Amino acid sequence: MAHEINCLDIGTTKINLLTGRLTASGPELKGLITVPSKGIRKGVIIDMQEASSSIKDAIKEAEKRYSIRVDSVITAISGSSIQIIESYGATGIGGKKIRDKDVENAINSAGSVYIPLDRELLHIIPVEFSLDGESGIKNPLGMKGFRLEVKVQIITALVNHLENLSGACEQAGLRIKEFIFKPFALQRAILKDEEIEGGVLLVDIGGGTTDISIFKDRRLISTETIPVGGNHITNDLAIGLKIPVQEAERLKIKYGSAVLRNSPDEIEIDSLRNKRTVSLGIVEEIIYARAEELISLIKDSMKGLPGLCGTVITGGSSLLNGLDSLIESLLGMPVRIGYPEGFRASPVLSGMFIPQNSLVFGLWKMATERKRSDKNWRYRIEDLIEWARGLLNTPKTLLKGGSLCLSLKNS
Ligand SMILES: Nc1ncnc2c1ncn2[C@@H]1O[C@H](COP(=O)(O)OP(=O)(O)OP(=O)(O)O)[C@@H](O)[C@H]1O
Ligand SMILES: [Mg+2]
Repeated sequence: MAHEINCLDIGTTKINLLTGRLTASGPELKGLITVPSKGIRKGVIIDMQEASSSIKDAIKEAEKRYSIRVDSVITAISGSSIQIIESYGATGIGGKKIRDKDVENAINSAGSVYIPLDRELLHIIPVEFSLDGESGIKNPLGMKGFRLEVKVQIITALVNHLENLSGACEQAGLRIKEFIFKPFALQRAILKDEEIEGGVLLVDIGGGTTDISIFKDRRLISTETIPVGGNHITNDLAIGLKIPVQEAERLKIKYGSAVLRNSPDEIEIDSLRNKRTVSLGIVEEIIYARAEELISLIKDSMKGLPGLCGTVITGGSSLLNGLDSLIESLLGMPVRIGYPEGFRASPVLSGMFIPQNSLVFGLWKMATERKRSDKNWRYRIEDLIEWARGLLNTPKTLLKGGSLCLSLKNS
């Protein structure tokens, strides 16, 4: 029997709803609906009614276009509401071979940390095991020993934030099946194995926010959300040139550049009253100032972290002309633009594998791979270990509602 899978990205500028199903022969993408988002500012819901009405628009459009019913989704979460802590757990083995159950016990004991009432557990990720004091063990299954210890990352989110997202979806008639931490989904869609291994800065530059994550040695080692995105550039142009926001957006996309080219050209702009010309050099200066500020914030968030091999930028604003070269020169490492990759192309999705859609395709990858590995949405212990080793090569997080997880809250 086929399982319907719907993934939702509630962004500051757009809502993306990707629909499809998992059949016996594999995942089948049906289509992607994108509608403008309302009621969201800097990645946060500021008007529940408006947010929910734009989610409803996306659902209605998907139901009409693909003759399906959308009643539940997987969605992403990030931002300042997220907290990552490390914890340790242990279990006795009694000299026998380590089985699934032993690893599960060790992980569960690591998860038995105090989680404040205003937070909810999202993922517990095993990072490394030690057996009888021998550290650095990636997969202890089948090994013999007496004491198995595990180091885990525990990811929690503020209950309020989750409830606001759930509330907006519920008002639109949708149930959220699962929240996935955004950097994990993004990396599934756009990063290569060697980047996650060697060290990479992943930057999703959207409309209202920039999410910065650092992966190294196949682990997420740092993450931060900055409330600055492409809309700030548009607003700077609107204010600086005294033109409407729509005209500023058009200018940015058509003529904008993050690199100062000292262009002598004049371009025609449409202000409210009349048409006039403005020097392209001024447009570039306005964009450059904001882009440089954003890059310096990115640089700050990397302070004290290990050396990296490169940067991958994604999100709609990664398409800003020259932004990749500016980041490359200011951060001093190679930069590429990340497009969702590794999806079976179907005519209905042609042209949709673009940076704005990286997150929703990453959610899809995670959902379908996990679903394939276990039809009951349960997580096998080998998958978990593999997951920690290959960081979501097979995404089997211990998620809320999963088999191992997670009545751990305050237990
Ligand atoms: N070709 C382009 N050149 C420059 N900017 C672009 C281009 N295409 C899209 N953008 C900008 O990308 C931004 C939207 O990106 P995206 O769809 O990733 O944001 P979002 O997911 O809605 O927002 P957020 O992730 O911040 O909540 C807008 O600011 C838009 O102006
Ligand atoms: Mg986004």
